[in-house]
Amino acid sequence: MTASPAPAPSVDRLAPWAFAAFVEANTHDTQYRPPVVDGPIGPTIVRNGRELVNFASISFLDLERHIPVRRHFAEGALAHGLSTSGSRMTQGICRPHQVLEETIARRTGKERAISFATGLLANIGFVHAMSSSAQFDTGIEVRNNDTVFVVDRDVHWSIWKGLEGLGYGRRVHAFRHNDVADLGVVLERVRTRKTVVIAESIYSADGTMGPIVEILDACDRHGAISMIDDANGFMVYGPENRPYAREAAAIRERADFVMVSLSKAIGLEGGALAGPAAAIDAFELLSGTSMFTAAIQPPTAHAAERTIEALAADPTIVDDYLAHAARLRRQIHEAGTPTTPTESYMLSMPIGNDAAALQMREWFVEDGYLVPVFSYPAVARNQALLRLFPHAGHTEEQMDAFLRTLLTYRRRLGL
Ligand SMILES: Cc1ncc(COP(=O)(O)O)c(C=O)c1O
Repeated sequence: MTASPAPAPSVDRLAPWAFAAFVEANTHDTQYRPPVVDGPIGPTIVRNGRELVNFASISFLDLERHIPVRRHFAEGALAHGLSTSGSRMTQGICRPHQVLEETIARRTGKERAISFATGLLANIGFVHAMSSSAQFDTGIEVRNNDTVFVVDRDVHWSIWKGLEGLGYGRRVHAFRHNDVADLGVVLERVRTRKTVVIAESIYSADGTMGPIVEILDACDRHGAISMIDDANGFMVYGPENRPYAREAAAIRERADFVMVSLSKAIGLEGGALAGPAAAIDAFELLSGTSMFTAAIQPPTAHAAERTIEALAADPTIVDDYLAHAARLRRQIHEAGTPTTPTESYMLSMPIGNDAAALQMREWFVEDGYLVPVFSYPAVARNQALLRLFPHAGHTEEQMDAFLRTLLTYRRRLGL
């Protein structure tokens, strides 16, 4: 039997949305038609049939080498099934979710945690829970439509999405990226009883660690509640021998709320909010992104919990990775190429000119590398950068060859 033809596109009725013109104007870019990947994504990736050395993977620890994640996943699937089959409020949470949430609460140093299908939903749910009003049959009322948010200008899209509609300049204020003095000025100006400050640990665009201790000091001085989005730092920073031990301790000991993602170091999918027990319990209802959507799949929750515990039990996995990433950073510096000034594992290399950065991306693919480029509108015009994740599975030869290739392009472009 032949497949029936696709229905004729309702081009005319969609015209006011300008989708066709939008895609047409951007045909030089592949981003609207994602390349198709075959096989597992790791230090290399097979995209549209071509193998590339992969500097784009956010699950960078190559955990299969150390932890039998897929076996944990399979065990979880056999023991708990594949789906939560509904909202956690109607049927309850599965055992793996309970164990995962207890583990995340313990590892983040908070009283309780609640998991979400993604970190993005955790962030949107946090803003919603902290800012909405509701009345329940039992006579209980929450009135939080007077909450004011003060956020680092570069926080993740999901926080900005949550804040949409609250009124910029009214209930939403931003401070300059990583600028604690500016945060102080904004907090001084806002002066309300219910202020929430949101910042990130490691920022995904530039790889910098936020000035966490100073941000938390400012929150203390102004009586503000703090929320740190630790999507990129969870289970990476913390132990004394690693960079940012001071910031990680402050997140653990002093931040009121912390958000974690399971798609980064843990290499799976899901997110969580951790914080004071009463608030987290209230978030079951008030976040909306918990109650009105499905949860993490049970085998993923099980494998995530096993992975968190395995990373905690064997710190050499992350230690080795950080040393591996630091080596590439050092070599890039020694070769005279600037990166954003940070000690994090993310490598952000300012290129400037948007056209040059896009040209580099094409050359990289031709030469067998997948290297993400952030250009306008992701960053300001002509402030393009290469943003790399070294992968624990990259060999020294792959790293060295990448560096030689990068230097060739820089010379060719006169950078
Ligand atoms: C800082 C930050 N917050 C939140 C998220 C969203 O996390 P998830 O991938 O779990 O939805 C990301 C991922 O890109 C991130 O970098």
